[in-house]
Amino acid sequence: MTQFFSEAASAEAVNARIGENADERLREVMSALVRHLHAFAKEVQLTQPEWETAIDFLTTAGQLCSAERQEFILLSDTLGFSMLVDAINNRRPRAATENTVFGPFHVAGAPEREMGACITADGRGEPCLFEGRVLDLEGRPVEGARIDVWSDNADGYYDVQQPGVQPKWNNRGVFTTGADGAYRFVGIKPVSYPIPHDGPVGKMLASLGRHPYRPAHMHFLITAPGFQKVVTHTFVGDDPYLQSDAVFGVKASLVAPYERIADGVTPWRSTFDFVLMPLALNA
Ligand code: BEZ
Ligand code: FE
Repeated sequence: MTQFFSEAASAEAVNARIGENADERLREVMSALVRHLHAFAKEVQLTQPEWETAIDFLTTAGQLCSAERQEFILLSDTLGFSMLVDAINNRRPRAATENTVFGPFHVAGAPEREMGACITADGRGEPCLFEGRVLDLEGRPVEGARIDVWSDNADGYYDVQQPGVQPKWNNRGVFTTGADGAYRFVGIKPVSYPIPHDGPVGKMLASLGRHPYRPAHMHFLITAPGFQKVVTHTFVGDDPYLQSDAVFGVKASLVAPYERIADGVTPWRSTFDFVLMPLALNA
């Protein structure tokens, strides 16, 4: 029987239109989306001007998107949605290294470097030695793990945010582990920085009384044959934004030691072991 639209049965009226031949998963996802969206409007008694503000917000976000800028992912990140989807899809045993948000500043194709090499090309910042091992759940070294690392520079910008100012591939590199699973490279002690906040997401944060800063971190993307990919960071433990990361990326297990070394080749050292899950295992 045809169901006309009514306030009381609004979601049911919309979902009744989904065709018999629609993909089952699409039906599940879209009908739940419609139910929650309608329940949300009813809960807050959404006004017409508020609806218009939301449409303007989404329009501006879309217009800002390009190959270099993804305002919708930034929206997802700042609403904690990216971290939630990651958590749902990457449940791991306690011993395995946790994921965190990927972010928009990874660039594929960074230079493959010799183990121990320096990734900092602008000579700025406080040099820091990053070292540790890539291990499996039994504590055995993982050979052939590809460790793709990237961080901001001393001013809090990634190289891709300052083309022509920073050297290309500044604070980026790819390292591959040998039989001992060990990695070692020199970068800088990262600094905290604001996520891009000159668009609608920045405006939203300001309206909500939220700052746009991320606590200082080094990004790691680790892949190895037979193991699940790890997308993570190590955070600098004394960072003032650790408790209020704009994108909710901090996990206790990812706060790494960044310690001063008196007589080392670098003034700082950060030691961190990564533990990978085999491909077949899901906690
Ligand atoms: C980042 O850590 O690079 C990042 C993550 C989410 C949004 C913006 C930046
Ligand atoms: Fe980052």
